[in-house]
Amino acid sequence: MSDARSDSKVNHVSRTIQLEATTTITIAVCVLIAIVALIISVVAISKSAGSDITVQGKTTSSRQTPQPAVAYSPSTYDASRCQASNRRRVYTLAIGFDVGAYVYSDDSGFQVGFGPDLIDAVCQEAGIDCRIVTEPYTNCMFSEKGQPQRGGIGLMEGWYDACIGWLATRQRKQIFAFSKPILKPYEVYFYAFLGFNPFNITGKKMGLISGFSTNEACLAGLDQVAGRDVPHSNVFHAQTPAELMAMVQNGTVDVGFSTGPSMATKINGTNIQRFPSDPMFCKNAGQPGMMTRKDNDFNSKWNEGFEKLVSSGRFKRLCDEARIKHGHRGEIECVDA
Ligand SMILES: *[C@@H]1O[C@H](CO)[C@@H](O)[C@H](O)[C@H]1NC(C)=O
Ligand SMILES: *[C@@H]1O[C@H](CO)[C@@H](O)[C@H](O)[C@H]1NC(C)=O
Ligand SMILES: *[C@@H]1O[C@H](CO)[C@@H](O)[C@H](O)[C@H]1NC(C)=O
Repeated sequence: MSDARSDSKVNHVSRTIQLEATTTITIAVCVLIAIVALIISVVAISKSAGSDITVQGKTTSSRQTPQPAVAYSPSTYDASRCQASNRRRVYTLAIGFDVGAYVYSDDSGFQVGFGPDLIDAVCQEAGIDCRIVTEPYTNCMFSEKGQPQRGGIGLMEGWYDACIGWLATRQRKQIFAFSKPILKPYEVYFYAFLGFNPFNITGKKMGLISGFSTNEACLAGLDQVAGRDVPHSNVFHAQTPAELMAMVQNGTVDVGFSTGPSMATKINGTNIQRFPSDPMFCKNAGQPGMMTRKDNDFNSKWNEGFEKLVSSGRFKRLCDEARIKHGHRGEIECVDA
């Protein structure tokens, strides 16, 4: 695994060079300030030493006090403060793993996909420094049987600035803030063995994924489905899409309910199928975007960068290119731009 191919792409290199140039200039300025401060303090010492003599008259005592040592002490030039004020803020963005074409591991184990591509492009337009953090979904958002969804500990406690690709649902907006939408709403499906009737789920044991928008509230809004008010006793939560698959396969649940992209690659080559043939959507779910704490300034910077990307036509190109690069993993449903 070569380190030269780090988590970021080519345009990151030019950004690094830019960053290094900025750092060099910053250091130069800091050194210059330090020299000027030194000169001023030396001049001040000689002046004060001189005045001491004339006023006091008793030359020896005042002249021999080791004042210069104090004046020359490094405290006049605070390098750490000079550095801190110029250090660029790094924004950290949590991304899940294995979500169709949006994020997946390539052959060498690097996280690639439309998500990382988009983060690179938008952060570059916004002039901010972004880093991706791979995280379990449940650290962004989680749910328990019969409870409203709750903010995940990672985002709540500020382990990172944002979680990428989360639908701005009505429930979530009471907890977190959302950027402008980046994708169209996710299609949602039931996942079960052949012969499952998606239009009547009465009495079925239902598998959901903790934190996902495909929750009890979404189920209850599927007007075309009989038995959509699933009793809590029939709800079972998986922590990941892979676990949901396992629960359907070993009969812990009769059916799993999830978003299309999260399951796309997992049902491939298994005896699990998705239902119905026409996609369904959660009501009041909004569209996928960047999810942050409400006191975080990331979304305003992201939105600015995203608008630039869209208006320059680069966003559309990025989506088209991503469909060629990552299309073998599933569809990429960019917002119309
Ligand atoms: C749904 O299935 C249940 C149990 O199998 C049945 O009692 C009910 O009549 C069905 N409802 C509809 C609308 O088909
Ligand atoms: C079925 O799979 C789930 C998820 O891997 C596991 O937690 C559970 O113990 C399994 N149940 C059986 C009966 O094998
Ligand atoms: C599904 O599996 C086939 C081969 O088994 C493969 O060619 C295809 O790319 C896979 N599709 C996805 C979405 O992983």
